Amino acid sequence: MQTGPEQRGTIRRTGCCQEHFTESFFRGNFMMKRIAFTGAVLLSSLMSFSVMAAAPMSPEEQAAADVATRQAVFKLLAFNNGIVGAMARPGGTFDAAAAKTALERVEMLSTMIPEVFAKDTRAFKGPKTAASDTIWDNKADLAKLAGDLGAAAKAAQATLAAKPNADGAKEIAGAVGPKCGACHDRFRLK
Ligand code: HEC
Repeated sequence: MQTGPEQRGTIRRTGCCQEHFTESFFRGNFMMKRIAFTGAVLLSSLMSFSVMAAAPMSPEEQAAADVATRQAVFKLLAFNNGIVGAMARPGGTFDAAAAKTALERVEMLSTMIPEVFAKDTRAFKGPKTAASDTIWDNKADLAKLAGDLGAAAKAAQATLAAKPNADGAKEIAGAVGPKCGACHDRFRLK
């Protein structure tokens, strides 16, 4: 049966719009929910962030964090010093670029030593530490020993440029390592 153009148009329009309306209503509704959900997640993470920022650590927690930070600096120093140390050992593979990077890092990390001891943690017996209490009465000496390490790491970069080989690495290990030891003898508990 033929439907007249007018009728067909009407039927189509109605059908189309109803479907369209229902579909876009649900899709729109879904999108709104998604937006609302995303907004809620963002808001709650912002809120928990501000709650975190608002609640300061207890003095004990702060001291534990300070100890962990300075020990992290020494772990990184050991990591980088170990790179050159491995090259200096018999059978080690020399890599001039890796040695240069490691020495630059040691030099940079040495500048952080006085800073990571800025907080006096002597009063806190909780965190496990090998730092001597005498550090906080002799901060200038600590800074001097840290500076010695930085200077040795800098000089070692010149050594490396002049002797980019395993012999250079040995010389460097012999020059830098004792700067670690000098401070450990003075300020690191056994
Ligand atoms: C100016 C002083 C100083 C210098 C220089 C220094 N250290 Fe130390 N180091 C310390 C002190 C103090 C501690 C103990 C820190 C603590 O337990 O709170 C320490 C701890 C460490 C630790 C143990 C970290 C841990 O996980 O508890 C390592 C490893 C280490 N040093 C390696 C090195 C190496 C390698 C160098 C040289 C490249 C070096 N240190 C240079 C003072 C120094």
